[in-house]
Amino acid sequence: MKLAKKDWFFIVLIVVVVGVFWAISGEVRTKKVPLDTNHKRFYDAFAQGAGKLDLDRQCVECHHEKPGGIPFPKNHPVKPADGPMRCLFCHKFK
Ligand code: HEC
Ligand code: HEC
Repeated sequence: MKLAKKDWFFIVLIVVVVGVFWAISGEVRTKKVPLDTNHKRFYDAFAQGAGKLDLDRQCVECHHEKPGGIPFPKNHPVKPADGPMRCLFCHKFK
């Protein structure tokens, strides 16, 4: 069977749709910010209207950057060149 141009279009469309579903499910799998004593003040500040960008900068007090900080898993996304990591963009509040 020879594939016509419109068949290829259909195949590409299916691949894109599956890819989008995969990407969405990946985001949902990302761990949420735990609601515990270490993180409660971020929940409180956010509820009182603090910007996520300001809160992002405070995560590194404990996570990753300081010596003795909690390390990221090996496959963790890296810091963008143009600013701080957007922790709360990926790790949602509960
Ligand atoms: C581009 C998206 C993204 C950004 C930005 C990001 N993370 Fe992650 N993080 C992930 C993914 C994906 C994983 C691995 C899957 C998982 O365990 O949630 C992960 C894992 C983690 C884990 C380990 C969870 C565990 O116990 O397995 C911690 C802790 C963490 N991130 C904290 C942070 C902090 C703090 C920041 C900001 C400095 C940050 N992340 C920024 C996507 C991101
Ligand atoms: C006071 C220190 C401290 C600060 C500040 C802090 N964390 Fe954490 N975080 C911890 C500790 C300790 C753990 C591991 C134990 C736990 O799950 O609470 C952790 C674990 C995590 C995890 C993994 C949870 C899991 O299910 O494995 C994520 C995601 C995370 N933090 C995100 C953040 C984000 C986003 C911020 C900034 C808004 C932040 N943390 C700020 C101490 C901190």
